[in-house]
Amino acid sequence: MTLAIPASSTTRKIILDTDPGSDDAMALMLALNSPELDVRAVTVVPGNVTAKQGLENALRMVSLANRCDIPVAAGAQHPLFQKLITAEFWHGKNGLANIELPPSKCKVDPRYGPDLIIEMVHAAPHEITLVPVGPLTNIALAVERDPSIVPLVKEVILMGGSITGGNSTAAAEANIYNDPEAAQIVFQAGWPLTMVGLDVGDKTLLSSKYLDQIGQTHGPVNDFIYQVAHYLIDLSAQFGFNGTPMYDPLAVGVAIDATLVKAPPMHVEVETRGEFTRGETVANRHGAVERNVLHGDRYMVEGLDKVEPNAKVCTEVDADRFLQLFVSRIRGK
Ligand code: BDR
Ligand code: CA
Repeated sequence: MTLAIPASSTTRKIILDTDPGSDDAMALMLALNSPELDVRAVTVVPGNVTAKQGLENALRMVSLANRCDIPVAAGAQHPLFQKLITAEFWHGKNGLANIELPPSKCKVDPRYGPDLIIEMVHAAPHEITLVPVGPLTNIALAVERDPSIVPLVKEVILMGGSITGGNSTAAAEANIYNDPEAAQIVFQAGWPLTMVGLDVGDKTLLSSKYLDQIGQTHGPVNDFIYQVAHYLIDLSAQFGFNGTPMYDPLAVGVAIDATLVKAPPMHVEVETRGEFTRGETVANRHGAVERNVLHGDRYMVEGLDKVEPNAKVCTEVDADRFLQLFVSRIRGK
């Protein structure tokens, strides 16, 4: 039996593109248990773990949540132009904090992830919000295969990037660093895009205070998320942090309630060539660049040229309100 939440006309239809992944697990469970969202599909991208492991994890989680009605599809097997970098170091050997979920009752959807995205966008024009919380390979492939989806997508709300330095390198955040060319395609596509970056995610630490609240209630999803969060909080403590950053869940949180964040418009480019900065999201914060005009053997600044924003970049978050929302959606599930 499936326990689908009936979708009302005000629910937001989303496709979650994910590399599960421990914080991906929390994002997925938040999405599946939020009546504001109607999860139409889960597409899997390699990142935190291989494509094969990620697919297995997605299927097991959707099964745990009793939602075999949601298509789960495999997508890309590797980044567009570089070797995959997996992160079992952070997410556990199986990507799910080493928690062994029961085998899935759900079956994989035979469609290729990027094609499923294309198909669903055409079937519900202007209604689908894409929520990518892994490297942007699948989304870029969908745009490359069918650019006509761009004006038909309602919005893209992605976890990735940073305007204050990275976690993979000094400059680059992991999702963007894992496929910078794909990220550049997605940022320049021309659709409404919100960047929920590393720096704003770092402000949402799920500490033991919140974990204890999840620990007071029970249910299959509740208990799974309790174990995942426990693992991540212990891991964060080893690095001196009082809680685990809720990167991917925050992107879902913004899809649920955009008032959780402040997100001023900026123009963002993804650096693909820099020796030290490959994968950096370079954001123009004042909306203009200097106009330099050649005069003889030198350039002279002659004014400012406006640059159009292509993203809303999250800079502030009401962390406690978001964390309370997360806990309330997971408790007892
Ligand atoms: C992002 O990278 C992954 O490790 C997480 O799942 C998140 O999507 C944070 O940089
Ligand atoms: Ca992720």
